[in-house]
Amino acid sequence: MNTDDSIGIIGGTGAQGWGLALRWAAAGKKVRIGSRLKERAQEGAQKIRDILGTKSAEIEAFSNTELVATTSLLVLAVPFAVQIPTLTALRHSFRSGQMLIDCTVPLETTVGGSAVRLLGVWEGSAAEQTARHVPANIAVAAAFQNISADALRNIASLVECDVLVCADAGDNRERVRPWVEAIPGCRYVDGGRLENARLVESLTALLIGLNRRYKMKDAGIRITDLPESGRL
Ligand SMILES: NC(=O)c1ccc[n+]([C@@H]2O[C@H](COP(=O)([O-])OP(=O)(O)OC[C@H]3O[C@@H](n4cnc5c(N)ncnc54)[C@H](OP(=O)(O)O)[C@@H]3O)[C@@H](O)[C@H]2O)c1
Repeated sequence: MNTDDSIGIIGGTGAQGWGLALRWAAAGKKVRIGSRLKERAQEGAQKIRDILGTKSAEIEAFSNTELVATTSLLVLAVPFAVQIPTLTALRHSFRSGQMLIDCTVPLETTVGGSAVRLLGVWEGSAAEQTARHVPANIAVAAAFQNISADALRNIASLVECDVLVCADAGDNRERVRPWVEAIPGCRYVDGGRLENARLVESLTALLIGLNRRYKMKDAGIRITDLPESGRL
């Protein structure tokens, strides 16, 4: 199992996962891209090396199964519709002590509906659904749902967004902080318990609606009156 100085992204070839990988690699972090197909992960990793123009970017490619079996800090970045099947397929690869950061938003688009509406999730949020579908000894946090993939991809610009991090233990929320702070423009905000993820996820539907009405791509959120570091 690798140490906490790297992060592995399940679905790291997709819009959100790849965008996060790009930003973290640009910040000099060690990034591990996962895909159902290792070749696709390799392509995603190469694209990042090409953009950053450096062979030294610390980026590796794995199948999702390999990734989960060997990485202590993971991100889940797959569409809501395949969240449960993805976790079920990977269930036996998880190891005690790992943490999974969920960035899923249960948009109605999953069932052919609107991107400005959320589906009801029995557990309360997509993140809590994830928590139910991983082994009990895996910590789950929720973060990055309010950042658009477009903003992440646009490497020349800051990502103007506060990142509300939710997890049941304060230590697990803090474990996400360096990954938030590595993305220029993002500020860590302690979002409290995992159950608050339902509120954060719903903000994304609101932001998508704002993007449409104001003809933008990258609406984000800022919480006022907090210390600049977001520390309690
Ligand atoms: N896009 C955004 O702006 C944005 C913003 C905030 C949050 N999010 C959340 O981030 C998550 C990922 O969004 P995204 O836009 O990055 O999704 P995406 O590009 O459609 O898919 C992400 C990855 O999921 C895997 N995947 C796709 N369909 C699959 C299927 N049928 N079965 C198994 N794996 C499948 C693919 O990886 P492989 O084929 O390589 O395995 C794909 O590259 C979603 O839950 C979304 O709500 C997205």
